[in-house]
This record gives sequence, structure tokens and C-alpha cells, in this order.
Amino acid sequence: MSRILITSALPYINGIKHLGNLAGSMLPADVFARFQRAQGRETLFICATDEHGTPAELAAAAAGQDVADYCAEQHQLQKDIALRFGLSFDWFGRSSSPQNRDLTQHLASVLEAQGLIEERVDQMIYSLADKRFLPDRYVEGTCPKCSFEKARGDQCDGCGALLDPTDLINPYSTISGSRDIEVRDTRHLYLLQSKMQDRLRTWIDGRKDWPQLAKSIANKHLDEGLIDRGITRDLVWGVPVAHDGVARPGFENKVFYVWFDAPIEYIAATQEWADATGGDWKGWWRTDAGADDVRYVEFMGKDNVAFHTVSFPATLLGSGEPWKLVDQLKAFNWLNWHGGKFSTSNRRGVFMDAALDLLPPDLWRWYLIANAPEGSDTAFTWEQFQSAVNRDLADVLGNFVNRILKFNETKLDGTVPDGGEPGELEIALLASVQEKIASLTENLEALEYRKAAQDLRALWVAGNEYLQVAAPWTAIKTDRDRAAVVVRTAINLVALYARLSSPFIPFSAAIIAEAVGEAGVTAWPLASDAGLLDSLPRGRTVRAPEVLFKKIEDDQVAEWTKQFDGVEE
Ligand code: 2FM
Ligand code: ZN
Repeated sequence: MSRILITSALPYINGIKHLGNLAGSMLPADVFARFQRAQGRETLFICATDEHGTPAELAAAAAGQDVADYCAEQHQLQKDIALRFGLSFDWFGRSSSPQNRDLTQHLASVLEAQGLIEERVDQMIYSLADKRFLPDRYVEGTCPKCSFEKARGDQCDGCGALLDPTDLINPYSTISGSRDIEVRDTRHLYLLQSKMQDRLRTWIDGRKDWPQLAKSIANKHLDEGLIDRGITRDLVWGVPVAHDGVARPGFENKVFYVWFDAPIEYIAATQEWADATGGDWKGWWRTDAGADDVRYVEFMGKDNVAFHTVSFPATLLGSGEPWKLVDQLKAFNWLNWHGGKFSTSNRRGVFMDAALDLLPPDLWRWYLIANAPEGSDTAFTWEQFQSAVNRDLADVLGNFVNRILKFNETKLDGTVPDGGEPGELEIALLASVQEKIASLTENLEALEYRKAAQDLRALWVAGNEYLQVAAPWTAIKTDRDRAAVVVRTAINLVALYARLSSPFIPFSAAIIAEAVGEAGVTAWPLASDAGLLDSLPRGRTVRAPEVLFKKIEDDQVAEWTKQFDGVEE
């Protein structure tokens, strides 16, 4: 498969995202996209804001804004911040787009034609105080499964269970806080997932490449038996329940459920991209239009897995149309904040805008990838963050780059030196570098982020160790040719580091590349290339960059700890 389609879970529109959101989908997806592009593969990296449903309505109400205006404003904010973090989306769309409206309505129609949608009269919670139904996040209460007291009507944050509002014990309205509620009849569309059980099981059994976390969550849902899910809501903001512009009778004041239309936006956002750029969206998404040779990789937090392994595939498979389905699904555990979760609604943790106010994006990127919550939940600590920045970036990578380039400027003539022949040290270094590049490439391909970051760090360390032993500062006194070999080898390593580090820390990698005259050279090195450490033209002027990574001081850590930890649960 030569083409790579990448989607990151769509961030909710309800405010700037926190580091947990970044670490659990958008950032690893970006690293993967950059890595794939560097390998010369045609890559399409799609994301969008998830703009419908109760999260949007509640946040707009809290901000005192009209929901459409609120979404437009927040979309732009999220887009700008994503850019500042170096998230290299080919398209950052909006689930409120006309493309998503049309495609969502289309898929609902074909699912109904396939006998997979039916109207049912449902009992829903109605608030007498608010004079309205209370779908999803408009109602909270105690989780019937784990007794968590602030479970939402759609999902419990305590145990991850997917819920219906009527499942909640002691429910109350999140609009007014009122418990003056009753259960009333209301008509809704249901997606008959129970009819899809066998087809989904067969499909999931065939997903040999899926990581364990994703597969076990999918199987848990299948083992429990798939339940039919309501896919419409008594809300105003969302995709209208209509076909060809005509509202479905009885559904004039209803919209599709946000979790029905949000994943469809992966496709619709690709249509948005195609409409804006002239791209061929069908070639990425329709197997009858060439998408068979696409490798589709999805990134998400673990709470999203059920939707992406069961509900969204049920939509696409059930349609009977030739849609491309996910090949690999990378799910992350939580990045935790002081024993609890980062939370957008409670403003707990460090948010992307605040992070960038403190420090450059690459520092966050490196820490979050090197400590990716892969095997289990991971706690963010300022001390670990400080150590990742100071030890890995400043002491190892930054020190190597500056040390050798400064030395070259002061003791040689500031160009890639000529003269001398590689000796045993260089031969051993090349073998070690080749082995580490092979491992890094393999781990990135396998979406193993912590291991990949360890490989990259090991490559940086290998350079420092080489310099220590080869000691050009000693050689220069007696043997200029030997010093030239070491400096030349080390400068080639600098150029190699720029390329290999680029998916992780693209801004710093660009500065490093520029310093050695390799701006814009991002092609991924081949581990088998015997010329890896001698590819730069001799005589090319190179120069030491400004300090690449400023160390984080203890008093900064103390200050930030105070500043950010004041937020109570
Ligand atoms: O959990 C979330 O943040 C959702 N907004 C993710 C949606 S992903 C996709 F399915 F649209
Ligand atoms: Zn629960």
C-alpha cells in the first residue's frame, strides 16, 4: 500500500484543547504523517472540529454566544493553535460543513434502504423547568455501572460506559440543575447495530494489524452483544434529519446525534479538502475509485474506540456502499493530571494555548511523544517534563549540534572539512547508526511512539559518545586530517539528526537543517545507506545556530506548579 490516509479524533469545539487531547491523538497522528511524507509516500492527514451536539450548545450558552458564531470563532482558534504546534493537517475541517450535512443525510438514507434504520418511540428525559428534552450532556447523574456521581447522559467518565440518559440514577438538568424531570415519549431513529453483529465480528477478526487495546475494546462490545443505538436527538444544532432538503415528517425539530455525524466528517472533511484544492476525495475513501491501495490509520483516545471500531464501521459497512474502512487503529490511554483527568469543561490541566505561552512547541511535542500514554495511563509531572527537555533536548541533542558546529567555526574554517579517511571509530559509528535508524523506522511504522523516541534519543547519544572518544579538540593539535574526519562525520550526523528528528520536533529540526545547509531536506534516511555519514558536500559553509533548547530552571518548575496546580477538582 503506497498511500497513507491518517485521521485524528476530531476535537470538540468546546474550547482550546488540553495536552491530554494533544497527546492522545493529534500529536502522534502528526508525527506519523510527517514520517510517512518523509518516506515519500503520498499522505493525507485529515482532522476537523467536532461541532455538533450538546458539548457545542452548552459551551456556546456558557459563553453567551449564538452557537454558530461560537463554533466559527472556536474553529479558527483551534486551527491557529494547531498550526503553532506544528500539526501538519492537510485539511482541518468543520463537522458543521455542508459536505458533512449532505453525506450524513445520504448515509442515513442508504442505511434505511438497507433495513438498518427504524423509527422507534423512545422514552427520554424531559425537564419541566427547562421545558425541553435533555439529551446526552444536558443531563447528569449517578452511573448505574460504577456509581460515579457525575456521569453524563451519553457516557460515564468514571468507567467509560456508554449510557443513555434514562440509565442515570438521580438525574438532573445541567442547564438549570433542576431535578424536576420526567420521562416522556419522543420519536427517534435507531441504527440497528444488533443486525450487524456478525458482519462486524467477521470484519474485526480480520484486522490482524490492530493493536491490543483497540481489539480488546471492540471485542468487549461484541461479546456483550451490540445494541441498537438512537442516532437522532431533540436538539436544534446539528445535521437536520432530512433528505434532499426535505425534513422527515415528525423530525422537524430533531437532528442527528453528534456521534453519528462526527466520524462521517472524516470523509466529509476530505470532500472539503477536495473542493478547496481540486483533490480527489473518492480516491481516498471509495474502494471503487482506487482507495483499495490506501492504508488508513486512525488515532484516538481509548474512550473513542467503541465508536470507531463498532458504530462508524457499522455505518459504513451497513450502507452497502464501497467505503474504505480503517486498517490500523492506534488508541491511547489517558495522560493524567494529578491523579485525575485533564478536563476541558473544568479547565483542569495545561491547555495548548497556555503551553505555547510558556515554551516553544517542540519541547511539549518531545515530552508528550517520549512519554506517550501507550501501555497504560501516564501522569504529567513538571519534573518529568523538565528532565525530558533538559536531559534529552538540551544536554544531548542541543549540546551536540552546538558543540561541533562552534568547534568547526573556531578551530577549522566553518565549512564541511575535507581531508582524511574514516577509521575504525567511524565504521563502528556507522554500523550503530544504521541499526538505530532501522529500529526507529520500524517502531514508527508500528506506531510504537515511546520506543521510537528511545531510538531517536539513542541516536543523539551515539553522537555525543562518538565525539567524546574521537575528541577532535585533541586531534586538531597534532593531526588536522584526523580532526577533519571527526568534524565532517559529526556534521553529517547533525544533518541526519535534522531529518530523523523532524517528525518529532519539526521547528528545531528545521533550524538544525538550515545550520548545515540542508533546509527543506526531509527525506527519510535509508538504514542501509553506507554514505549516511559522508553525504554533505565538502567545503559547504555551515554555522552554529543560536542555542536550540533553553533549559528549564527549578524556579520555573516551582512557579508553574503553583500556577497550574491551583485548579481544584
Ligand atoms: O471524544 C472526542 O473528543 C470526540 N469529539 C471525538 C470525535 S472523533 C470522530 F469520530 F469524529
Ligand atoms: Zn461508570
